[in-house]
Amino acid sequence: ATLASMGGGVQALAAPKGSLRGFPDGFLWGCSTSAYQIEGAVAEDGRGPSVWDRFSHAYGRVANGDTGDMACDHYHRYQEDVDLMAKAGMRAYRFSVAWPRVLPEGTGAVNAKGLDFYDRLTDALLARNIEPWPCLFHWDLPQALQDKGGWLNRDIAGWFSDYALTVAARLGDRAKSWAMLNEPSVVAIFGYGMGLHAPGVTGRTHCLKAIHTQNLAQGRALAALRAAGGGKGWKLGTVLSLQPSWPVGGLDANYPASQMWDAVWNRACLDPLIKGVYPEELAADFAALTKPGDLETIRQPIDFLGVNYYSRMHQQPDPQGLFGTGYGSPPEGTRRTAMDWPVEPDGLAEILAELQESYGNPPVYITENGADYVDEVGPSGRVEDRDRIAYLRDHMLAARKAMDDGANVRGWLVWTLLDNFEWAEGYRRHFGLVQVDRKTMARTPKASYDWYAKVIRKNGVPT
Ligand code: NOJ
Repeated sequence: ATLASMGGGVQALAAPKGSLRGFPDGFLWGCSTSAYQIEGAVAEDGRGPSVWDRFSHAYGRVANGDTGDMACDHYHRYQEDVDLMAKAGMRAYRFSVAWPRVLPEGTGAVNAKGLDFYDRLTDALLARNIEPWPCLFHWDLPQALQDKGGWLNRDIAGWFSDYALTVAARLGDRAKSWAMLNEPSVVAIFGYGMGLHAPGVTGRTHCLKAIHTQNLAQGRALAALRAAGGGKGWKLGTVLSLQPSWPVGGLDANYPASQMWDAVWNRACLDPLIKGVYPEELAADFAALTKPGDLETIRQPIDFLGVNYYSRMHQQPDPQGLFGTGYGSPPEGTRRTAMDWPVEPDGLAEILAELQESYGNPPVYITENGADYVDEVGPSGRVEDRDRIAYLRDHMLAARKAMDDGANVRGWLVWTLLDNFEWAEGYRRHFGLVQVDRKTMARTPKASYDWYAKVIRKNGVPT
């Protein structure tokens, strides 16, 4: 059997239709967001500029010329947003801390007002019984650090771990679960390889260097927080984008391309963290970037792994591609989201099986999963997003089935609470459980929000 014929069909429904698939007691339900995508208030209370301010204001970089200047105005409306989480019964919230709010220059002087915001947010969450899950870097690098090379400058490992210690010193009496980075391979591939994301740098070597320095920074920060966290009950981890890479058409001829892309996207971050080695396909490239001791720095014990999952990546040779590979079509008949991503819930089960079999089955939280659809307002006057509900349901059921087979999944954070700034796609993409009116900033829960509230209440997913 080819790989494609083994997994082509969606087999997420493991229980008869109309029943409820229960989750283990204590399974942690919540949602994720990120600072630049929702906060707005980019020039307020001493925040410094980030690479995304610079990038989104440059002509032609983001669809419709959208920027995060206003985003969802969460900086001023966080109380309302925390209320929305609480009303749905959510028990955990992964938000990101904007490095340029805390350290406007990236290093040096701390901006107390920036930290105050996350302090207020943390208290608002705890007042509603929601665990704060800060993530220390979700792409909004201080522009001042980019001016020194950003993720291409090895010194950033020290800058990042100093920043991590600063934030943890302020919130760590109340926030217990800490994620270091969000999707480092995506930052490297889109931001430093293809130039589609900030800072808009291109090139294969730059891409790999950005992976390596992020791995180093993550390692330094994990070690620093581990040392500082004695007795504080901190759980330390990081968040990776893990999407199975498949050869288009299941063809042997496409297999090397799929393996190469898997090495870049998935294993270049996962393998050194957990196994202390870089993938074979890129061994020579990374050897040239690695100094003695680097792999020891990068390999760290983690208390959890955050997994962001959306779809498989179907790869074939492409001479124009950074790594000689490019995206092709998924198997015929595969559903797609509005931004054309294939809907492949069994790809999540595949990732979980791989983590179980080859990576020691670490505690996993699904830190992102969700979908962009063209939202239509139904007769009820609000968005009836049945396709988003189906997407979430099928992925939750796929994970639940994997858990029966031993996958170590502890919680689920939906991407995302609010329709927000979807990076180079701007505001035209909608991943939220809650619709945000771009003029009034009014929040209106979609049908998926009510559906998710019920999942949480029952601690189970209707089939
Ligand atoms: C991954 C990123 O972490 C998040 O910022 C983004 O909005 C979603 N995926 C959807 O593309």
